[in-house]
Amino acid sequence: MAKIIVANWKMNGSLAFMKTWVPALTSDLASTSNQVIICPPFPFLFPLSAALKGTSAHLGAQNCHTTPHGPFTGEVSAAMLADIGCQAVIVGHSERRTLFSETNDLIKAKAEAVHAAGMTAIICIGESLTIRQSGRAIDTVIQQCQASLPPSATPENTRVAYEPLWAIGTGLTASLREITEMHQALHAATKVPIPLLYGGSVTEENATDILSLPHVDGVLVGGASLNMAAFQKIIR
Ligand code: PGA
Repeated sequence: MAKIIVANWKMNGSLAFMKTWVPALTSDLASTSNQVIICPPFPFLFPLSAALKGTSAHLGAQNCHTTPHGPFTGEVSAAMLADIGCQAVIVGHSERRTLFSETNDLIKAKAEAVHAAGMTAIICIGESLTIRQSGRAIDTVIQQCQASLPPSATPENTRVAYEPLWAIGTGLTASLREITEMHQALHAATKVPIPLLYGGSVTEENATDILSLPHVDGVLVGGASLNMAAFQKIIR
């Protein structure tokens, strides 16, 4: 079954990197039935949309503002992202929740703005190590999911990415059992079957096993998406 593969470059990349990265992926994009969504930093979205023309890849942003326009210096709206060819926006990544104090309410409003602009919201949720060790991971993540999903969410316009904080960028992937338990609980808790992604130290070595688990519809890849050879293997 086709899977969703999201590349989150975070605050990495350059025009020079893009010029080598995209041509290297073109044949993999042509031969895969998986849905690949590439999320570079804002300045590279427009040139990347041109570079990806004619491929099956979708373009995604990593954040947006809640309103379409206005006096919000330094911000970028969902409508603007749709205008330049984005099909998706990541909202509520744990780095935004932790480093930029984003709350469930704000993330819900951002996801709603993404939907209003006709794009797919990739809503991130996940527990800290302390919560995991206290045995409250499932309850916490379900509550976060329910509080971050706007009423406008449907299986077509939303993906939920479970990303345990302790697994992001650490090389510590959640175990297949932990992923299965969480995805089963999320699947049961969401009223409509929103596609569920896993993120947190996904590599070319563990992607196949993770993608074979029940209720894992895709992966959100950070570090390994910047390594061409690794990302090519994940796409395949
Ligand atoms: P990682 O990042 O793959 O480098 O752990 C994933 C993410 O933060 O989305």
